[in-house]
Amino acid sequence: MKEFWNERYSEPGFMYGTEPNHFLSNQLDRLTPETILFPADGEGRNSVYAARMGWEVTAFDYSEVAREKALRLAQEHGVAVEYSVGDMLQNPFPDRQFKALAAIFTHFHDDQKPALLALYDRWIAPGGLLIMEVFSKRQIHYQEINPQSGGPRDVKMLFSLHQLEEAFSHYAFEVIRETETELREGLHHVGKSSVIQIVARKPLSF
Ligand SMILES: C[S@@+](CC[C@H](N)C(=O)[O-])C[C@H]1O[C@@H](n2cnc3c(N)ncnc32)[C@H](O)[C@@H]1O
Repeated sequence: MKEFWNERYSEPGFMYGTEPNHFLSNQLDRLTPETILFPADGEGRNSVYAARMGWEVTAFDYSEVAREKALRLAQEHGVAVEYSVGDMLQNPFPDRQFKALAAIFTHFHDDQKPALLALYDRWIAPGGLLIMEVFSKRQIHYQEINPQSGGPRDVKMLFSLHQLEEAFSHYAFEVIRETETELREGLHHVGKSSVIQIVARKPLSF
């Protein structure tokens, strides 16, 4: 998979554009900037936006090519992003470090989801915020109509609401919904799509 992503990111231009994901930017615009982690951040459109808004940003991805492009984008905007190359499966961060974590189109196989979503929980500080937009399992049908609408073609790599509710059942949900949205994100997220959107706060006691 890492080779797939390095190849995709070796193409000219930004595969998902240079503008942030809308659901994310709407959330960031109403929050006071603190520390934030972007797992599987790709070419940096989201982490660079957060840095521009004054957040103290850490990001990682297992694609070196993505990191280079992200750092270039950060430089163009005159902001700093602490961006490392790492595999999520290696748990590259200490527990309870970040006041927010933004997981935007980060997709894993059903077998890996419980362990990886548990890592998100570990990395978020008590009282911290989880912001998430991912493709739902219904996206499989949207892809049949419009292959450009995005997301992995394997339904086991997509999310159900239940999987996320279960993983974060101890959080206070401000937003949790499966909804149809219109994506305009570069070359690969274009058109009507089915996504799950979450904003949830970790309790202070965890
Ligand atoms: C659809 S892209 C989304 C990129 C970015 N979050 C965005 O919204 O523009 C998915 C990203 O997940 C990264 N990725 C997948 N599995 C990973 C893993 N185990 N560890 C780190 N990054 C991973 C890929 O390299 C890719 O950049």
